[in-house]
Amino acid sequence: MSLYRNTVWFFKGLKEYTKNGYASASKNFNEADLKVNCTGQHYMITGANSGIGKCIATEIAKLGGTVHMVCRNPTAAEEARKEIIEASENQNVFVHLLDISKPRDVYNFAKDFCDQNENLHVLINNAGCMFNTQEMVEESLEKNFATNTLGTYILTTNLIPVMKKSEKSRVIVVSSGGMLVQRLNTEDLNFDKMKPFDGTLAYAQNKRQQVVMVEQFAKLHPEIHFSCMHPGWANTPAVRSSMPEFYEKMKDKLRTPAEGADTTVWLAVSLAALEHPSGKFFQDRRPVDTHLPLASTKVSTKDEEKLMSVLEEITKKFAY
Ligand SMILES: NC(=O)c1ccc[n+]([C@@H]2O[C@H](COP(=O)([O-])OP(=O)(O)OC[C@H]3O[C@@H](n4cnc5c(N)ncnc54)[C@H](OP(=O)(O)O)[C@@H]3O)[C@@H](O)[C@H]2O)c1
Repeated sequence: MSLYRNTVWFFKGLKEYTKNGYASASKNFNEADLKVNCTGQHYMITGANSGIGKCIATEIAKLGGTVHMVCRNPTAAEEARKEIIEASENQNVFVHLLDISKPRDVYNFAKDFCDQNENLHVLINNAGCMFNTQEMVEESLEKNFATNTLGTYILTTNLIPVMKKSEKSRVIVVSSGGMLVQRLNTEDLNFDKMKPFDGTLAYAQNKRQQVVMVEQFAKLHPEIHFSCMHPGWANTPAVRSSMPEFYEKMKDKLRTPAEGADTTVWLAVSLAALEHPSGKFFQDRRPVDTHLPLASTKVSTKDEEKLMSVLEEITKKFAY
C-alpha cells in the first residue's frame, strides 16, 4: 500500500506541486483577493525568519498588518525583521522569541500573550521541521512531534481566548501534501514504537495530524475560521537540509518561497477565503481532498476525536 500511495502522490506532485503546477493553478487566481488593507489587524506567524514564513510575514506587512514574528533564533529573527521592515516600509513588525518544541514555554508564551494583548486576528502556524534521526526534547518527546504537532496544538489552544475577542479571527496551519501518504495513527504520536525511526514518515504523520487537528478545532470553535494548506514544493532551507536527495533531483522544478507562501497569505487576508467552510485543507487557493483515491487513509470520527484528547493528555504532562 505504501508503494501505491508514494507513487500516486509523487506523480500528483510532479503535476501540481512544482513551479509549473503553480503557474497553471495561478491562472485562476483573482488578483483582487489580495488587495486588502490589513492596517490595525494583528498577525502572528511562527517560523517567520526563513523561507515560506518570512515571505508570508513580508506580504502581510506590505498590506499594512501588524506582524508578530515567533522565532527561536534571536539573530536570525532580528535580521529578518529588518528585511521585512525595509521591504514593506511597515514598522509594526515585532519579534517574540520561542522554541515551539518546548511545551511549557509555548504554553507560558500563549498565556502571556493573551494577558498582554487586546487582540490577535490571525495565527499562522508555519514553523516546522523534519529531523531524520530520533532526537528528544524534554528528555522523552520526539522532536518532530514536539514541534509540528504538539507545539501547534498548545499554541493554538492557548491563544484561542484572545482570538475570540475579535470577530471571525483565523487560524492557519502550514501542513504538507506529504500527509496524503499517511493514515492518522493516534496510538504512537511520539513514535516510540517506530522501529527503525524514519524522519520522512514521522513528518508526514505529523502533517496528517495537523490536518485532522484543524478539522477538530473547526468543530470545537465555530466562531473562528480554521484552515490548513499545502505550499507545494518550494525551494527553502528546510528542503535543502532535510531532503538533500529530493532537492538535487527536483531543484529546477521547485516553487519560489513566495509561491509557496501565496495560499497562506490568501487564507490570512482575503474575504474569499472566508466563503469556504472552516476546517478545510487548501492548495493553490482552493480546498482539496485530504485523501488520495483508494489509499485507505481514512479513519473513524472516533479516532479523529481521539487525537485531541491524547494531545491534551500529553500537554497536561509536559506544559501545565
Ligand atoms: N518548502 C516546502 O517545499 C514545504 C512543503 C510542504 C510543507 N512545508 C512546510 O512549510 C513550513 C515552512 O517551512 P520552510 O520550507 O519555509 O522551511 P524553513 O525555511 O526551514 O523554515 C522553517 C521555519 O520554522 C522554524 N522552526 C523550526 N523549528 C522551530 C522551533 N522548534 N521553534 C521555532 N521555530 C522553529 C525555523 O526556524 P530556524 O530558522 O531557527 O530553524 C524556520 O523559521 C513548514 O511547516 C514545512 O513543513 C514546506
